[in-house]
Amino acid sequence: MTAHPGQFLAGKRIVVAGGSFAALSFILALELLWNPSLERPEVIVYERDDRDKSIEKDTYTLNINGASRDDGLVAIQQLGLLDEVRKHATLNGGDIRVWSANWKWLSSINPTAYGNLPAATMRITRGNLKRILVERAETTKTTLIWGLSCTSAERLSSGKIQVTISDGTIQDCDLLVAADGANSNMRACFRPNDMRTEYAGATQIGGISRLPAGVPKPIDKDFGLQMSSGEGVCCIYNPFDKETVAWAVSAMGPEREPKTNFSTEEFEALKKEALETTHMFQEPFKTVVEATMPGTVFIRPAKEKFAFQHDGSLKGVMFIGDANHILSPFELVGANLALKDGWDLAEQICRNTSMDAAAASYDRVSIPRFEPVFNFSHERIGFGHSTGKKWLFYKYGMAAQRGFKQVH
Ligand SMILES: Cc1cc2nc3c(=O)[nH]c(=O)nc-3n(C[C@H](O)[C@H](O)[C@H](O)COP(=O)(O)OP(=O)(O)OC[C@H]3O[C@@H](n4cnc5c(N)ncnc54)[C@H](O)[C@@H]3O)c2cc1C
Ligand SMILES: *[C@@H]1O[C@H](CO)[C@@H](O)[C@H](O)[C@H]1NC(C)=O
Ligand SMILES: *[C@@H]1O[C@H](CO)[C@@H](O)[C@H](O)[C@H]1NC(C)=O
Ligand SMILES: *[C@@H]1O[C@H](CO)[C@@H](O)[C@H](O)[C@H]1NC(C)=O
Repeated sequence: MTAHPGQFLAGKRIVVAGGSFAALSFILALELLWNPSLERPEVIVYERDDRDKSIEKDTYTLNINGASRDDGLVAIQQLGLLDEVRKHATLNGGDIRVWSANWKWLSSINPTAYGNLPAATMRITRGNLKRILVERAETTKTTLIWGLSCTSAERLSSGKIQVTISDGTIQDCDLLVAADGANSNMRACFRPNDMRTEYAGATQIGGISRLPAGVPKPIDKDFGLQMSSGEGVCCIYNPFDKETVAWAVSAMGPEREPKTNFSTEEFEALKKEALETTHMFQEPFKTVVEATMPGTVFIRPAKEKFAFQHDGSLKGVMFIGDANHILSPFELVGANLALKDGWDLAEQICRNTSMDAAAASYDRVSIPRFEPVFNFSHERIGFGHSTGKKWLFYKYGMAAQRGFKQVH
C-alpha cells in the first residue's frame, strides 16, 4: 500500500473548539485541499456563542492586510473569498503615518500590495467578515454547532482525545483543533501552566468616535500614530470609514485593569484623562476625543503571549490563532495570523503522511510568522513612548528618512 498524504485522518473525526477566524479558515481550507479520492474526516465545530451573536458581537472594523505572503488577505484569496470580501470592504494603501503633537509629519511606512492582491490593506467590519466565512462554512459538510462550548478535554490511553461539551455530552476525536481564542479552555486543559499573559508595559485608553461632518484631516485615511516630543505618550488613530475613527492614547506604566463597561461618569472621566495625558496634542485631537461614542470606550493593558510548539505532550491537539499566540493591541494583526494559521494547518494535514509530521511542519510556518510581528509590537511600544536620548535618536532617524523620501 502506498501512503497517501492525508490518509492518517481519512474517515476519522476532527473536533474544532471555537468558530471564529482561525477555526473557519481551517475548515474551509480542509474542504478545499482534502484529496477527494480519500474518505473525508468528519469535522464538528463547537462555538460557545449562538450563530447571530457570534457574527454580531464586537462591532469594530478589522484591517486585513495584503502586503506580504504572511498576511490575512493571502488566506482570504486562497480560500476563494477575495471577491466576496471585497464587496464589503474598503481598499486602503495600508500606510502608517507618524505625526508630532502639532501635526508635523514625522515619518511614514508605505507598504505595497503583495502579488496580485488589490490593496495592501482592506477594511471590513468584523461582522461582515465573520458572516462571509460562516455562510461559506455552512455550504460544506462540516457540522457547525452553535451555543455549546468545549469545557474540558483529555487524551485517552487509545490516543484519542475526549472532549466534554457544555451540555454534558462527550465527543471522542482523533484530532482536536483548539481555536478557542486568547483565554483558551483547551490550553487550560493541556497546558495548565501556560495561561499567563505578559504585560508589555503600556496601557491604552480609548474609544471609537463618530464625526458626522467627516473624520478630520490628516487622520481621515491612514493609520496614524501621534507622538509627544519625548514625554512618553502617544495616540494611535485607526479610521474605519468617512465618519468613524478609533483612537487609543497610551503611556508606559503599571498594568491597569481592563475595562469596557463604563457608567456616564466613568465615561466622562476617561475622556478627561485622555485629554490631560496628552495635553500637548493639538486639534483635531480634542474634537476626536469629544466625539467618542459612549459604549465604545475601553481601558486595555497591552497583554501578549509568545507562540508555543506542538511537542509530544500535545499529540492529537493543535492550537491555532489566539489560542496559541497573543499580540498586544500595539500590533493588531491577530485576525490576519488566525486566518493564515487555519489555512496552514489544513495544508500541512493534507500534504504530510502523519499527524506528527504535519504538526512539526505547521510549527515551522506558524511560529516564524508570529515572531517578527511580536518583536515589531515591542519596537512600536518603545518608539511610541520614547523619552530622553531614545526620543532624540528616533527624532533624528525620522528626519533622515524624510530627507531621503524627499530626494527620491
Ligand atoms: C478592538 C480590537 C481590534 C482588533 N483589530 C484587528 C485588526 O484590525 N486586524 C487583525 O488582524 N486583528 C485585530 N484584532 C485581533 C483579532 O480580533 C484576534 O486576534 C482574532 O479574533 C483571533 O481569532 P481567533 O479565531 O484565534 O480567536 P477569537 O476570534 O477570539 O475566537 C475564539 C472563538 O472561540 C469561542 N470560544 C471560546 N471558548 C470556547 C470554548 N471553550 N468552546 C467553544 N468555543 C469557544 C469564542 O466565542 C470565539 O468565537 C483586534 C482585536 C480587538 C479586540
Ligand atoms: C455594565 O454595568 C452595569 C452597571 O454597572 C450593569 O448593570 C450591566 O449589566 C453591565 N453590562 C455588562 C455587559 O457587563
Ligand atoms: C510535510 O509537508 C510539507 C509541505 O508539503 C513538507 O515541506 C514537509 O517536508 C512534510 N514533512 C514530512 C516529514 O514529510
Ligand atoms: C525577536 O527578538 C528576540 C529577542 O530580542 C531575538 O532573539 C530574535 O532573533 C528576534 N526575531 C526576529 C525574527 O526578529
